[in-house]
Amino acid sequence: MTSFPPRKGMSRQEIAETIDAILAEATLEEKVAMMSGRGFFQQFKESDNRWGGHPYRAGGGCERLDVPALYFTDGPRGVARGQSTCFPCSMARGATFDRDLERRIGEVMGIEARAQDCTLSGAVCINLLRHPAWGRAQETYGEDPYHVGEMGAALATGIQTHNVVATAKHFAVNSIENARFKVDVKVDPRTLREVYLPHFKRTLDAGCASVMSAYNKLNGEFCGQNRVLLTDILRDEWGFEGFVHSDWVAGVHAPYGAAAGLDVENPEPLVFGDKLVAAVNSGGVEPEVIDRACRRILTTIYQFASREDPYETYTLDMVASDEHRSVAKEASIKSVVMLKNDNLLPLKVNDLKSIAVLGRLAKLENTGDHGSSRVRPEHVVTAYEGIEKALPPSTELLYAEETDLEQISSAAAAVDSVVVVVGYTAEEEGEYVPGDIALDPDVQAAVEEATDVQRSNNFAVGGDRRLLTLPSAQVSMIKAACEQNDNVTVVMISGSAVVITEWVDQAAAVLHGFYMGMEGGHALADILFGAVSPSGKLPFSVPEKESDLPFFDPDADEIEYGPYHGYTMFDRDADKTPAFPFGFGLSYSSFEYRALKTYKAPDGVRVSVSVRNSGRMQADEIVQLYAGFPGAAIERPVKLLREFARVSLSPGELQTVYFHVPYSDFTYWNESNGAWVMERGVHRIYVGGSSKTEDLLVAEVVL
Ligand code: BGC
Repeated sequence: MTSFPPRKGMSRQEIAETIDAILAEATLEEKVAMMSGRGFFQQFKESDNRWGGHPYRAGGGCERLDVPALYFTDGPRGVARGQSTCFPCSMARGATFDRDLERRIGEVMGIEARAQDCTLSGAVCINLLRHPAWGRAQETYGEDPYHVGEMGAALATGIQTHNVVATAKHFAVNSIENARFKVDVKVDPRTLREVYLPHFKRTLDAGCASVMSAYNKLNGEFCGQNRVLLTDILRDEWGFEGFVHSDWVAGVHAPYGAAAGLDVENPEPLVFGDKLVAAVNSGGVEPEVIDRACRRILTTIYQFASREDPYETYTLDMVASDEHRSVAKEASIKSVVMLKNDNLLPLKVNDLKSIAVLGRLAKLENTGDHGSSRVRPEHVVTAYEGIEKALPPSTELLYAEETDLEQISSAAAAVDSVVVVVGYTAEEEGEYVPGDIALDPDVQAAVEEATDVQRSNNFAVGGDRRLLTLPSAQVSMIKAACEQNDNVTVVMISGSAVVITEWVDQAAAVLHGFYMGMEGGHALADILFGAVSPSGKLPFSVPEKESDLPFFDPDADEIEYGPYHGYTMFDRDADKTPAFPFGFGLSYSSFEYRALKTYKAPDGVRVSVSVRNSGRMQADEIVQLYAGFPGAAIERPVKLLREFARVSLSPGELQTVYFHVPYSDFTYWNESNGAWVMERGVHRIYVGGSSKTEDLLVAEVVL
């Protein structure tokens, strides 16, 4: 028999036997061909240089033997194909702290991927936000490894429900954009395991079946051919059984990458293909390397293809359906973080005779960067449009842009209330594809071609953010509006923290909206006018000043990532106080915490806490649990997030929240014997509504 198509309902045994048979039958060339994508460059041209114009073949596939290939589509703010549902960016969804919602978002992506012929999703982007200038900050969930891992696991689970393979990217320490093709990130083994990798492990442990390697180097070797990362840690330490594929063009530099643990080169065989065949024939790469890689790829393909689908068919009318758009709206609402509110919000829509919505971004369809994660929905509800729709026809609505400060001032002076929309666009932050890197000539040419094409196709340059404050024209607009009107709400759109120290005292209310997705304007109106309370919490710390942050260089050839950034750094450094701490976010209601209890169970620490809505409005609260360690044997952070829960409470309602923190979540990596160790002694459990000490109850537990 020379035909091996997968069938629904195949057992593990049958899959293993089928793969043995395929490997016995396939030639070396056919096997190596299954270790790369194919056709991307041609398809890219055919689709008018539009990213996502086709499902991209990305591993597996042998026509002669009827072995299917995987077809890739991007994420993470939706399926980057056709006119799919555009969600708020991942960082916004990080602010929801809502695993259940993130899993449902994953389901939508899984359904829309299948409906558009894709079986491999690049939506699970879980690099850690170390510094807010990182251009692709918007694609991940935040600065904390536990939180990022939980959200990534939820998204991957949802996507895979519909038998689309989810890939966790970019493995690893990828958090400088402009230098991504060359930067060598130096990290010591303990920091790597405790800070920069746990979110990958958590996501993979939840079943995420594939990994995309990063472009950058880790400790002297490119991640796409880094044996320590791809074999020693991923396979040997963690027991990962899925496959690893490269990032797109120039993700691996030598056939040796296959031996180091890279199974698929995407999107074209620039380094694998003929060069890998030659390396095997000349003895440079062992034939077993090829069989092992094919076995991993094919096992994943056959396992997914043999599983039952939740729907009988996946059709185009499922894409951006009303139901899916309502999930996007729910995510936008839950992600908005209220940073400040001096009794201004919610605005009483029926008392408002006039309102000014100011700023160019208020009317811009601004859903995030224009890189690989770009989603092109049929329509985006802008802030202006959402507010306009929510107002009664009698309310006067004015608009002006920051290019005309006189108009800004006169509009602000003429109305009851002002909403100023500020922040960034794809021009100032996002994915960046430079053409000036020194690579193998073939690869270099391909990268340059892709770069030119992207530029000519309105691919905003993006890259790492040059400013951590708002552009000066926007600051002038805020100040001009605040001089004329006491009721100014500032809405910020950005992928990560913005330093707002210069003007925050002047505005009555500040909302961090991130990139809000296709339903953003409606969600914003619901929050401004009090249909629902804000409930997002910051997935990162906001510094008072840039100099409080770790060193960052967008053009670095080499950089060291240490163990502290974000809230662990602010906790450690007594001379630095964040402007807004990790986990912070205000509500229209208020919450009281009491009765924190801990119990040492055989499998971990059980914790309970009672939370009461002490305000006057139905609202969600995000309950956060941090662990503190004895820190006598070895220096540890003051505290680390170890659990969270979103609870929904009516006015006066009390709910007791129960947490379970396994003992493994108290351990540290002991470099001397390469093992995870739990220190004996008094640990602290902190529970509350933000990472700020004053917001936390504390209990001790002796472990
Ligand atoms: C990005 C990846 C993306 C890939 C395919 C790369 O440039 O780094 O995140 O999945 O392109 O579009």
